[in-house]
Amino acid sequence: MSDPAPQDPRPNAPAHVRHARLVAWVREIAALTGAAEVVWCDGSQAEYERLCAQLVAAGTFLELDPQRRPGSFLARSDPGDVARVEDRTFICSQKTEDAGPTNHWMAPAQMRELLQTGEQALFRGAMRGRTMYVVPFSMGPLGSHIAHIGVELTDSAYVVVNMRLMTRMGRGALEVLGADGDFVPCVHSVGAPLAPGQKDVAWPCNATKYIVHYPETREIWSYGSGYGGNALLGKKCFALRIASTMGRQAAQADGRGWLAEHMLILGVTSPAGRKYHVAAAFPSACGKTNFSMMVPPPAFKGWKVTTVGDDIAWIKPHADGRLYAINPEAGYFGVAPGTNEHTNPNCMAALQRDVIFTNVALTDEGDVWWEGMSETPPAHLVDWQGRDWTPAGARESGENGKPRPAAHPNSRFTIAAANNPVLDADWDGAQGVPIDAFVFGGRRSTTVPLVTEARNWTEGVYMAATMGSETTAAAAGAQGVVRRDPFAMLPFMGYHMADYFQHWLDLGDRLARAGATLPRMFCVNWFRKGADGKFVWPGYGENMRVLDWVIGRIAGAAGGAENAFGTSPRYEDLRWDGLAFTREQFARVIGIDRSAWQQELVLHAELFEMLEQRLPAELPATLARIGLRLGA
Ligand code: OXD
Ligand code: MN
Repeated sequence: MSDPAPQDPRPNAPAHVRHARLVAWVREIAALTGAAEVVWCDGSQAEYERLCAQLVAAGTFLELDPQRRPGSFLARSDPGDVARVEDRTFICSQKTEDAGPTNHWMAPAQMRELLQTGEQALFRGAMRGRTMYVVPFSMGPLGSHIAHIGVELTDSAYVVVNMRLMTRMGRGALEVLGADGDFVPCVHSVGAPLAPGQKDVAWPCNATKYIVHYPETREIWSYGSGYGGNALLGKKCFALRIASTMGRQAAQADGRGWLAEHMLILGVTSPAGRKYHVAAAFPSACGKTNFSMMVPPPAFKGWKVTTVGDDIAWIKPHADGRLYAINPEAGYFGVAPGTNEHTNPNCMAALQRDVIFTNVALTDEGDVWWEGMSETPPAHLVDWQGRDWTPAGARESGENGKPRPAAHPNSRFTIAAANNPVLDADWDGAQGVPIDAFVFGGRRSTTVPLVTEARNWTEGVYMAATMGSETTAAAAGAQGVVRRDPFAMLPFMGYHMADYFQHWLDLGDRLARAGATLPRMFCVNWFRKGADGKFVWPGYGENMRVLDWVIGRIAGAAGGAENAFGTSPRYEDLRWDGLAFTREQFARVIGIDRSAWQQELVLHAELFEMLEQRLPAELPATLARIGLRLGA
C-alpha cells in the first residue's frame, strides 16, 4: 500500500474548531487510515436525521412503521459481530504486571506496530473509500468537574448515531474542550476498506478484532467490530477501562482519587419525601436497567424509584466528605430480550419512539419483537438475521431443546435517557448525587443469599471482590458458567485487579479517618433457583422489598440476623404486604448452605491466589475470619 499523499486533499476542520492538537491528530489519523473524507459532527438533530436516512439508504437501517414506533430503526449486524469480544480486549500498559492477571496484555510498542506503525499495520488504509467522522463527546454533564471529554474518530455512521444517543456529543463537547483542553483520543474502524466502485455491505466488519487500551497515554484503538461496547468507545473502553486508571492515578495527586464503576445509580424517595441514592453493580445482562427503572409494587404506594444511570457511575468524594456519583452516559444501550410490561414497564414506555434496535426480530407490521416481549410470539417474524421465522420452524431448527430465537440473545436497544419516564430530576446535575449505599449482585442459581449487609467497609470490599456470576450473552463465549467477576468489573478493569481492591480500601479508609459517613455495602442475588429449575424470588418490582430493607438498615429501622458474612433479614424483617411469599420460600432464597459456602470460599481463595502478588492483606484476613465463622 502506498503512503498517504503529503498534500492531503481532505478539507480541514470547520472554523469553530480552535483546538490545534485535535486538528493535527485528526489529520494524522485520516492520513494513516486513508479515509476518503472527514466529517466533523456537530451533534444536531438535523445531522442525526441525515445520518439515519443515509443508513436506511445503505441498507444498515430499516425504518420501523412510523405509526407504531416513530423515529425508530432496526439494524441487523453481521452474525459474527454480536457481542463484546473479551478475548480480543487488551490493556497495553508499559509493564505486564500493571495490567494484572485478569487482563490480556501486549507490550505497547508491539501493539502499535500491529495497529499503527508496521508495514502491514491494521489501521493503515483501513478507512479507504469511507468517511471518517469526528465525534467529540462529553462523558458526564457538560462542564461538570467530574466529567471528561473524548473524541472518537470512526468510519461507522451507525456508531455516530448511537454515540449521539449515548453521550453528550457534538458542538457542546468541543466548546468545553476549548483551544487546549484534554481529551481521550479514541480511534475506531470497522476494518473494511472499500476499493473504488466496490459495493458496501449492510454491516461492514472484520473477522480480526482488537479492542485496545493504552492506560499510560489514555488512548483507545478499536478495530474490526461495529457492535456495542466494542465500537461505542465512550462506554466500556473510556468510561470504565481508561477512567478506572484515571481515578486511581488521581489518588496519587489528591490522596483520594475517584471510582469508575459498572453500576446503575437510582434515587428512591419515601412517601414522606426522604430521598436516598443507591449505586448497584451487577454484571452485564443481570438486570441493572430493570432495577434502575423499577416500578414499586402497589403495596409501596407513595414510594418512587428514579433513574440517574443504568450502567456506569463515576464516583468522587465531595467537600462534605460524602461520595457523589454521576452517570457519565446520556442514554441506555440495553438488552432487549426479557424486557416486557411486567419486567420493566418504564422501559417499554421509553421504547415507544426514537429507538435504534439492533438484532431484534421484525414483525409483519413493521414493528419489533424479542423473546419475552409477549408470552406468545407472533405467528410470523423476520429474525435477527433476516430469515423467516415461525414458532413451529423455530422449534424444528432449535438447539438443546430450545427453539431458535427470533431476536439474538444480546440484541439491544439504544435510547436517549430523556426517553425514560422515571428519569431522576438530578440525573444531569454537575455535582452528582450523594450515595447512601452500594449494592453488589451476581447471577447465582445457588449459594448466595437474597441480601446481606456487610459488617463494615472492608467486608463490603471483600464481598464485592469475591462476587461470582453466571456468564451471559453480553460477551462472546460460553454462557451460564460461574466465574469470579469482582465488582462486576472483570471485563472492564483498566489495571491490576488487586490494585483496584487496594484503591477501594484506601478510599474508604481515608474518608472514614476524615470523619465521613461511608455508604453502606450490600450483596444481593435475585437468581436462586428451586429444584424445578425456576427462579424462587419473583424479582423485578418486588425487588423494592429488598431496597426497602436496605433503606431501613441505613435509617437504623430494619432488623436482621448475623451470619458468617454479615447481616441478612429474617422473614419478619421484610415487608410482605401484597405478595404471597411463604417462610419456606424465603428460606430457599436466604438460606446458607454450609458445604456450598465451604466450596465457595475455595473459589475465593483461588481468586486471591491468582492476585497474590499485589493482594491487600485485609482480604485474605477477611477470608480467614469468614472461614472461622462458618466453621470451615
Ligand atoms: C453493556 C455490557 O453493554 O455490560 O452494558 O455488556
Ligand atoms: Mn454494562
